[in-house]
Amino acid sequence: MIGFLKKKKGIKMGKFYLTTPVYYVNDAPHIGHAYTTVAADTLSRYRRLLGDNVFFLTGTDEHGSKILQAAREKGLSPGQLVDRMVQRFKKLWDKLLISYSDFIRTTQQRHVRVVENVILKLYEKGDIYKGTYSGWYCVPCESFWLESQLLEGRLCPECKREVTRVEEESYFFRLSRYQKPLLDYYSKHPDFVLPPSRMNEVVEFVKRGLKDLSITRLNLEWGIPCPLDKSHSIYVWIDALINYISALGYSQDDVRFSTFWPADVHLVGKDILRFHAIIWPALLMSLGVELPRMVFAHGWWMVKGEKMSKSKKNVIDPEWIVDRFGPDYLRYFLLREVPFGEDGNFSPSLFVKRVNSDLANDLGNLLNRTLSLVVRYCGGKVPSPAKDFPEDGRVREKVKNLASQIKPFMEKLSFSQALSCIWEVIGETNLYLDRCAPWRLAKEGKNERMQTVLYNVLETLRIFSILLFPFIPSGARKIWNQIGMKDEIESQTIKDGVEWGKLPPGIETRKGEPVFPRIKKEDFYETERKS
Ligand code: MSP
Repeated sequence: MIGFLKKKKGIKMGKFYLTTPVYYVNDAPHIGHAYTTVAADTLSRYRRLLGDNVFFLTGTDEHGSKILQAAREKGLSPGQLVDRMVQRFKKLWDKLLISYSDFIRTTQQRHVRVVENVILKLYEKGDIYKGTYSGWYCVPCESFWLESQLLEGRLCPECKREVTRVEEESYFFRLSRYQKPLLDYYSKHPDFVLPPSRMNEVVEFVKRGLKDLSITRLNLEWGIPCPLDKSHSIYVWIDALINYISALGYSQDDVRFSTFWPADVHLVGKDILRFHAIIWPALLMSLGVELPRMVFAHGWWMVKGEKMSKSKKNVIDPEWIVDRFGPDYLRYFLLREVPFGEDGNFSPSLFVKRVNSDLANDLGNLLNRTLSLVVRYCGGKVPSPAKDFPEDGRVREKVKNLASQIKPFMEKLSFSQALSCIWEVIGETNLYLDRCAPWRLAKEGKNERMQTVLYNVLETLRIFSILLFPFIPSGARKIWNQIGMKDEIESQTIKDGVEWGKLPPGIETRKGEPVFPRIKKEDFYETERKS
């Protein structure tokens, strides 16, 4: 349960701190990056709807060999490369309507200062010692591997690329010390890692034993110098993990830090779960800082059964899609098509099928048909409802229960299930409109009944738009505006906004362009060809 409400007298406002990973800026963002960020944005917007004080952090991971290598390949300095790439990420987040509260870059002074403090604290605690690292290193994954862990042909077990031999002096973090405390913590907090299958993997891994972790690299010019010894720089993963507390001003601004820490959710992909579920909590234990409440590991988007990656040249560029179809289609597809936590296949035909059927047909047509009828039979104004019929009550009950129905799904980050609940009621509303057939009622002169039906459908659309705002903020806002609502959709909360009957009769509707135009497969390929 991630719902965290301070039960103070009269105040029912909670804080909610959630994070995405800080992304490597060796290249432009792809669907994988967009996926985590869209999910985090949807959850942030949903928590705001619940009335929480949300802090949503994203950012970029800018140090390390991987960035240095990419900069060299492009003939740039690492600083030039990261400054350039960070703009690509920010531009994409703007286009996707990502409502982050803060964007941290690991090259910022505010971060570097905290990393230095953390290292000194770990050292004071007796958890850092000097030794020699001898093993293998995967630059694309920025990960250390033992000989025994490598795949045949000396390949990285994670990304299956070549690894490099490393034999150097290094500072180590006593990770082995935390094996038992971690196992105790997992058993007391079974929801610390979700989905549950991932928690089991983590527990099994830790049970096999933890080795101390090399946390510095010798003579690596692109990293934060180790405050204990300037010939070393901090291992990029340690540097990166600390972003979750440096952004809140850990060791700098206690009030800000204690307002939002601990994180309610760290959203990560399954490939980087171990860093978040083992190393990160061990570091926090050593620092004496409370642990995050949940680490959620989502699956991968694949293309023809393979993980998307730049080296395989099978990357789908989210920016093309957003430029061509706007932010909602991509957001909706990513969250609806595949249960969060599982892997999914990305293909243009699945994309086109999904958005046409759900957004253009079910939701878009419901809106268009209703608004056309309102223009035709009610002079474009929201009509007044009159006496209820039993079928009105049935639809109304379904819509009224929707917010509480999706709540448990949203708490478990089951976005696709939450959306499927909403779509069930959209389907019911379409049936209601068909059955009641207000066009026939108008012809038969049953105006009161016709107006009641149209009012009810407009009111369900108003409630849908609030509940859909976290998922498809652009389209939800357009629906809200087209049915004539004047105040800002952002200011709505589930508590007040989802009450039945808040749509004021008499206001002018504003039918405009279709909110969710149908798309064709050719549009998709056209986009691909052009770019
Ligand atoms: N910099 C580290 C994270 C440090 S967090 C303290 C990193 N960056 S990354 O840019 O390589 O990846 C960030 C996220 O994108 C990961 O959560 C990863 O799982 C996700 N994805 C990368 N490719 C993906 C897919 N093909 N599908 C879904 N998400 C995947 O790791």
